[in-house]
Parts: sequence; structure tokens; C-alpha cells
Amino acid sequence: MTATAPGQTPRHYLMCEPTHYTVSYEINPWMDKTRHTDADLAVQQWRRLRDTYLDLGHTVETIEPIPGLPDMVYAANGATVVGGVVYSARFRHPERQPEGPAYQKWFADRGYVTHTAAQINEGEGDLLVVGDLILAGTGFRTDRAAHAEMQELFGVPVVSLELVDPSYYHLDTALAVLSSDPASPQIAYYPPAFSSGSRAVLEHLFPDAVLATADDARALGLNAVSDGLNVVVAPDATHLAGELRDRGFQPIPVSTSELLKGGGGAKCCTLEIRR
Ligand code: ARG
Repeated sequence: MTATAPGQTPRHYLMCEPTHYTVSYEINPWMDKTRHTDADLAVQQWRRLRDTYLDLGHTVETIEPIPGLPDMVYAANGATVVGGVVYSARFRHPERQPEGPAYQKWFADRGYVTHTAAQINEGEGDLLVVGDLILAGTGFRTDRAAHAEMQELFGVPVVSLELVDPSYYHLDTALAVLSSDPASPQIAYYPPAFSSGSRAVLEHLFPDAVLATADDARALGLNAVSDGLNVVVAPDATHLAGELRDRGFQPIPVSTSELLKGGGGAKCCTLEIRR
């Protein structure tokens, strides 16, 4: 196992191989049913992503993909796990609704305490733990009422953020957690994806945040996965990678171009299990 570098903390991820990957419906502006998709290429890219985490010394578990649920590869949406407690996902669109119980069952079968959500929420797509806070997106998928439900469940302050650009429909497409260390939390984000009030909140909470450019955002560069030091990021997000390097992070470019056709990148494929 790779030694844990300064800043890096070992992570535990859940992923779902894109065996049944396709774009058969359209629920975000990236999806186009008429465009050809290549499940073999998606699997290849997904395996490279998984192997990158393993090489960094992280633990990766997998959930069996279910035929007819092509978006199951975006495991981040499957739940939110804090302190070993699972807040289940409850999807907005009917096409994805069976995924919530499937992910919840995976956790329940392994002895996790799971909480069935009453409110619509799309897991870590919109609910991101950073330091002592949870940043919670709303506007396209997750309902604000879920933010309150989650705050009650975990007893952690939840900060609601309003997303305004349909291309950045989940919080994790517009904001990346770089360091979740409560002593030095750090994020990167794309300001135009947020309402003006939410931008002001982010400036207040994270005055030193990395600001992504429109090109970084379009490459889904903010859909990045950080272990506190290494940041797995879309190769085309070159400005963002430079900013990360300047701040002592180690960007690791990994292409998930095939999965971008469904509107997701590295982070979408990666659900973090926090004990
Ligand atoms: N096609 C999926 C959807 O629109 C993509 C989900 C991407 N996941 C994420 N964590 N942003 O729901």
C-alpha cells in the first residue's frame, strides 16, 4: 500500500462498473439520446479511475450494476454517508428512482445504519461534506427540505446553496471539496453556477477558494475527487490543475470522457464512505 503523504488521508469509496452504460433518456443538458455511447470505453475509463484510487492507497468497494439503470455508474448520487450513518438518496426523476433503494440495500446488507430519506435528494451529487459543514445544493435536483432533514439526522450544520445554471445541475458539477480537514477546509468552485446570495456565502466561508474558469467548468473539472493531497481531475481542466498545483495539491488527470455524455465525471462515479 502507498504510504499516506502529508495532507492525504486514506479514503473508502463505493463505485459501480458501467457494464450497462448508455444514454437512453435525457435528464440533464449533457445527455443526448441520439449520440453513440461506448460501454466498453466507459468500462475502461472507469477501471482506470478505480485503479488510480487503489494506487493511491485507497479502498474501493463496488456495487453490482443493475440492467436498465445506466446512471447507476454515478455512485456519488446513491447516498450520503457520515460517521457510518447512511442518508439514502431519493431521486427526482423516475428513471433513476430505483437506484435509491438499491444503494440503501447495499449498505444495509453490510450492517450500516441507514435512514430512508423522506425528501428528494441525490446523495453526494448535491451534499458535500467539507470540514465541520455540509454544503448542500438545490435548484435542480435536491429539495431544500432534504437539507433540513439531513441536518437533523447528522447534527452537522448544513449550508444551502442555490444552483442556477442547468449545465451544473448537481453541486458536485460546480464545486469540489479539496480538503475536508476541519482545521483547513478548502474548496474550488465556479461562481456563475450559483445565485448571487450563494456566491456571497461561499466568499464568506471560503475566502481563499480556488475559482474555476468557464473552460474548467465545461470540462467538468470541478467534478474532482481529492484525498487532501491528490486531486483526480478531468485532463481538460488545465487552468484548474495549475491553480491546484500552486496551492500544493497534486492534480492527477484521469479521463472519463465517455461518462461525460451522461453528464458526469470522476466525482460522480465515486461515493465516499465516511466511518
Ligand atoms: N445522468 C446522471 C443524471 O443526470 C448524471 C449524474 C451525475 N452525477 C453527479 N454526481 N453529478 O442524474
